[in-house]
Amino acid sequence: MSTTDRNRIIIFDTTLRDGEQSPGASMNLEEKLRIAEALEELGVDVIEAGFPIASNGDFEAVREVARTIKDSVVCGLARSGAADIDRAAEALLPARRRRIHTFISTSALHMKFKLQMQPEEVYRAVIDSVTRACRYTDDVEWSPEDGSRTDPDFLCRTVEAAIKAGATTINIPDTVGYAIPDEFGAIFAMLRNRVPNADKAVFSAHCHNDLGLAVANALAAVKAGARQVECTINGLGERAGNAALEEVVMAFRTRHDSLPFATGIKTENITKVSRLVSAITGFVVQPNKAIVGANAFAHEAGIHQDGVLKNAQTYEIMTPESVGLVRSKLVMGKHSGRHAFRVKLGEMGYQLGANALEDAFRRFKDLADKKKDVYDEDIVALVDDEVLRANDRVRFVSLQVVCGSKGPQTADLELEIDGAVRRHKATGDGPVDATFNAIKALFPHEVRLQLYQVHAVTEGTDAQAEVTVRLEESGKTVNGQGADTDTLVASARAYVNALNKLLVKREKKAPEALSA
Ligand code: KIV
Ligand code: ZN
Repeated sequence: MSTTDRNRIIIFDTTLRDGEQSPGASMNLEEKLRIAEALEELGVDVIEAGFPIASNGDFEAVREVARTIKDSVVCGLARSGAADIDRAAEALLPARRRRIHTFISTSALHMKFKLQMQPEEVYRAVIDSVTRACRYTDDVEWSPEDGSRTDPDFLCRTVEAAIKAGATTINIPDTVGYAIPDEFGAIFAMLRNRVPNADKAVFSAHCHNDLGLAVANALAAVKAGARQVECTINGLGERAGNAALEEVVMAFRTRHDSLPFATGIKTENITKVSRLVSAITGFVVQPNKAIVGANAFAHEAGIHQDGVLKNAQTYEIMTPESVGLVRSKLVMGKHSGRHAFRVKLGEMGYQLGANALEDAFRRFKDLADKKKDVYDEDIVALVDDEVLRANDRVRFVSLQVVCGSKGPQTADLELEIDGAVRRHKATGDGPVDATFNAIKALFPHEVRLQLYQVHAVTEGTDAQAEVTVRLEESGKTVNGQGADTDTLVASARAYVNALNKLLVKREKKAPEALSA
């Protein structure tokens, strides 16, 4: 079956908005800009850059993305109130192409308990909010929050009213990830059949992954007529996350026989963007994650390896190259120079600025002195670690630890805080505790350590350790990561990274009544 324009699916990425609502994920303005640029290069049609009324930081981020992005439409989220919509419009002002996305809950449960509004008041708010958004742009998207659990008659009425008021995209969210594919597809079929002006809008699916069905539900919606899918890189998002962009797009590409749909995504950029988002958010991609997990193209069983060597299609339904995974020909070691390192990074999908490249090269040289073989995984860990530190207030400088069975374990730590290097020696229950105590002494703060996790990047006792630290402060959580051949240095780097993210997150206030 050939792909016609009717079968072109609009990819709406919400990594910077719903993705940032993942517990633990937070990004500062520069990080959001880097991701927005990478999304534009990936070929994303619409970038939801944030929720401008949520905080000044969100407002600034949406405005900067709006200033920078030229090809993709830049979208800002707003509840139904006038202040939300005006604020979103103001943030989007510099955009070449802008969209306001406004929403209100329509399920009986949400209207009664969350909004405490009568259905007729909600109906009125739909009309008022869409009408107001249309004053600022002719690209207005409206979402009935908790749409999949909304009474069908009320859903049809509100969708009809939103289109009549000027909405050009109608997004149906499965806010709590409750739907199953047949049922979710049927909602789209019903809306297209029953809503008299349905042909005046593009229908969109926004699926959450609480039952692991987000991608399946999005595909069912497309089969039933949706022509926009809302998704995130690596499936980030509230709770269990949103439909993963890479999975949706590769499903269309790989199973074009039964899903004859096309997107504008340059799939060869997928791995690069996935790594960038993982490095910036500190959310490690699970090894067996579809498309972008470290094992997605790895073959362990001898019989599979043999088959792949004879003909890759025996066990690979898509090529690693199609998602930008290049099997590198360059082997790196201590004799590799700056040029080879830059070429290698390019092959792996990284483009670092001059300073970051220089720092990463220096660390690569240190690593190659300590470690005989430098694998691609080592370089990924090292560069991601560099990306994480670009705008930090607190920076790791050095660490000397005394540990072993004779105690007391002590950590002698140097940190650079707001440009000044400071030093402290602390003891603790073991070297990790001593190191974290030294950080707390140098930069006093009250947090709860929720997770401390060490993972070896490659095999062998000289492998780099990749440490993840999760901190919690007044209900806000952040993940930090650090990598080094020394597990304690990696631990200090991870903690410091989490601390920097917490400093960013402190500035944000939780937007009231935004539940998805
Ligand atoms: O999940 C949801 O309902 C949302 C809306 C704001 C679209 O994210
Ligand atoms: Zn959502």
